[in-house]
Amino acid sequence: MYRIGFDIGGTNVAAGIVDESLAVTERITRRFEKQAYPGALAETVAEMTRMLCQQAGLSQPPAAIGVAVPGSIDPAAERVLNAYNLGLHDVPLRAEVGAHFPQIPVFLANDADAAALAELYGGAFRDAKCAVLFTLGTGVGGGVIVGGKLWRGGMGHGVELGHMALDIGGARCTCGMRGCIETRCAATALIHAAREALAEGERGLLFKKTDGDAAKVDAKLVVDCARAGDAGASAIFARFVDALGSAVVSVIHLLDPEVIAIGGGVSLAGEFLFAPLRENVREKCFFSEFARIVPARFGNDAGIVGAAMLERDAKIN
Ligand code: BGC
Repeated sequence: MYRIGFDIGGTNVAAGIVDESLAVTERITRRFEKQAYPGALAETVAEMTRMLCQQAGLSQPPAAIGVAVPGSIDPAAERVLNAYNLGLHDVPLRAEVGAHFPQIPVFLANDADAAALAELYGGAFRDAKCAVLFTLGTGVGGGVIVGGKLWRGGMGHGVELGHMALDIGGARCTCGMRGCIETRCAATALIHAAREALAEGERGLLFKKTDGDAAKVDAKLVVDCARAGDAGASAIFARFVDALGSAVVSVIHLLDPEVIAIGGGVSLAGEFLFAPLRENVREKCFFSEFARIVPARFGNDAGIVGAAMLERDAKIN
């Protein structure tokens, strides 16, 4: 038996075949820029499903298809309400995908909720009663485990950790508000800060590595330049860690979780991120003992694995 999980990102759709042990045995990725026409996303999902099954030589259909999207979902998990970074608003995605596969159960979830589910079933949240996942990518997502289960919110909307206010009067977020955690802690925030520094005359390693072309900046480059000791990039990275520390501390003060996992591309910086982050949290935290702060185990596969697990979770809960 196998399931297929989809992780819809800001620029790519990633999909994988997930087996019972939560391993991704086959995967494909496709570029996908915003929704070209109604139903385009569902069509992409359908095409990629067929390609995956063909690629893996599977004649049996999957037991389920799960789709993780970077936005809020309605309580019935039928519609994408608002995925600002994709420009998707009120799209009945579950039914649209289901129409392509009438015999296969289709599930829809927020991407960070799906990622938290993956951590719960086989990663950093195993055996945890209360845990929080931050995903740092194009946006900042959050998934919360309470009572050993994915917390879906009192009203069924889950959580939107990335849109909690961190920087009053700060930069405008794609959601319309100012100073959201996402404006300071997403991978995109590192990119914006580096581009701003270049525009303001920064001439260190960031400038050298990009030949002064701001379009060549990505989050990994900022981390690499900071790791190499460049002063400009180090200052940007230190401000990033400080902002993330404040976001993490706020969540600790609200929930007192046992573990906080950080996923998404930026978490691949490893201890270069985690060591100063833990120190930053220690300095700010009200409690002297607080959550373990660890990398998410599933890394970039978290959305795929979690989406595939939605069907198993629906059976159990
Ligand atoms: C969205 C969240 C999503 C996160 C990560 C945010 O901008 O509002 O729903 O989980 O990005 O993709």
